[in-house]
Amino acid sequence: FGIKKMANSTHKMKKIGHRGAAGYCPENTFPSYDRAIEMGADYLEIDVQLSKDGKLVVIHDSLVDRTTDHKGKVSNFTFDELRSMDAGSWYSPKFRGACIPSFEEVLDKYADRVGLLIELKKPSLYPGIEKMVAKELKKRNLPTKGKDQIIMQSFETDSMQRFHELMPEIPVAILINYPPDKIEIKNIAEYASYLNPKWTVVNKRLIDLIHSNGMKAISWTVRSKKEAEKLKHYPLDGIVADYLDLID
Ligand code: G3P
Ligand code: CA
Repeated sequence: FGIKKMANSTHKMKKIGHRGAAGYCPENTFPSYDRAIEMGADYLEIDVQLSKDGKLVVIHDSLVDRTTDHKGKVSNFTFDELRSMDAGSWYSPKFRGACIPSFEEVLDKYADRVGLLIELKKPSLYPGIEKMVAKELKKRNLPTKGKDQIIMQSFETDSMQRFHELMPEIPVAILINYPPDKIEIKNIAEYASYLNPKWTVVNKRLIDLIHSNGMKAISWTVRSKKEAEKLKHYPLDGIVADYLDLID
């Protein structure tokens, strides 16, 4: 019993702010990232896409409609156009004028303060995006604070395989929203360091299988007490939450 207790107490479950502190602020904006850090986030989770003029930008949807005062595809706007949009008022008038960050700004402002879980959002829409992200990380000599300071993730396995080849020093993760079988887990473990399951598919067997294949598991996305309560029972390596106070 004593040994088991010691093993558990050394296991640190990382707290990851989803799109910053998406439950309290407009997602993927500086106020959202600042709030997540104030709330004790170990990592910020961010979503990266590409503007029309080839600049890496941080926004979740492939359309700007939901989170700005404009309409249309992210890829149809230049960075300056995206930058001039109001990405705060849709959430609350209190956040009017919050802007869409560039990926470079997020690295410069936050990489030395907090871990970054960087999701490539629909990378197949943006051929070459892996190389562009790797270039920005290399330019800053990241990671500077240990192997897991920066983690890359995507639902698209081919993109993460490409990223792993470009920068094997940075761990990659595969996001999954269905229960994967043993063979799939084994294949992912060939290149990935994490397999990140949606909270609905988490069970002991899955987390044990991920661990026995040498990977870690970060589950997403806690938005309610019920979800937080469920995940407490599993030896997860991290939890992504809109409300970081739910996973204290
Ligand atoms: O970190 C996992 C989570 O962000 C994946 O889903 O749709 O919120 O990007 P989504
Ligand atoms: Ca995401």
